[in-house]
Amino acid sequence: MKKIRKAVIPVAGLGTRFLPATKSMPKEMLPVVDRPVVQYAVDEAFEAGIEHIVFVTGRNKAVIEDYFDLHPELIGTLEQTGKKTQLEALESMLPVAGATSFIRQQSPQGLGHAVWCAREVIGNEPFALLLPDMVSFGGRGCLAEITDLYAQTGGNVIAVERCEPSETNKYGIVGRGADIGGGFEVTAMVEKPAPANAPSNFYINGRYILQPEIFQLLGNQQRGAGGEIQLTDAMVRLSKDQPFFAQPFKGRMFDCGSKEGFIQANIAFALARDDMKGPVFEMLQEFVQSHERQEEAA
Ligand code: G1P
Repeated sequence: MKKIRKAVIPVAGLGTRFLPATKSMPKEMLPVVDRPVVQYAVDEAFEAGIEHIVFVTGRNKAVIEDYFDLHPELIGTLEQTGKKTQLEALESMLPVAGATSFIRQQSPQGLGHAVWCAREVIGNEPFALLLPDMVSFGGRGCLAEITDLYAQTGGNVIAVERCEPSETNKYGIVGRGADIGGGFEVTAMVEKPAPANAPSNFYINGRYILQPEIFQLLGNQQRGAGGEIQLTDAMVRLSKDQPFFAQPFKGRMFDCGSKEGFIQANIAFALARDDMKGPVFEMLQEFVQSHERQEEAA
């Protein structure tokens, strides 16, 4: 079985849900506490053993490429002013030279099209895909979990979580088959089905291990839900020839592409940090108490 060496991280989305903040700044650079959203996906990928990350970018996203580069002036200033902790933190986040590639998706045509844009750099090997809006929290990273299942099953593996049955139309939804390892065989995949047509409430949470044959299918994939070239539709076609497995994620994924998810992530990550949990917890208690008083008075 081939090792998963490369990961694709699509960062070309326009981020319309976060306007006006994202008018001139990529949504992937919005900070969760003090790290940009995209940094969490990169850390998760390297922790799972990934050696090379392919970012699929678009116009107005150049700042992401700069972020993953050395910043000599900043390093010089931190050295001169003796800011050792910040310096070490910056150095630990920097991918080694040559471990990243940046590819342009020239026009937004959907997730399937973005992944297809990475085909030449990935080549003929299985690869990981991480959607950076979805930020993994708690326990081991989500990609490490599906990599474990992949080591047992091979084929294609996707991470899933349960959603409210009424919210299946927000996600890709899978059907549940026989248990295998800590996961199960996938019997169906549907992109954003109405609750009545959903095969379950297990939704695809943005972490995938895919075989390279997906690229050929993406190359001639018809437009699907929302008029976009959907990855899920190409996965359905691939599943006619290759098995798909799903791993329910043991941690929790925050959808930082939505305002609620983004705020929840900021609170969860702040409460998980020794240097922040005390004051943030006190502030939350105060907010809740004052909110309750207001409700009672109303
Ligand atoms: C994409 C996928 C969908 C998945 C979701 C997770 O949808 O197409 O299957 O459930 O990401 O965030 P999007 O959020 O781009 O509409």
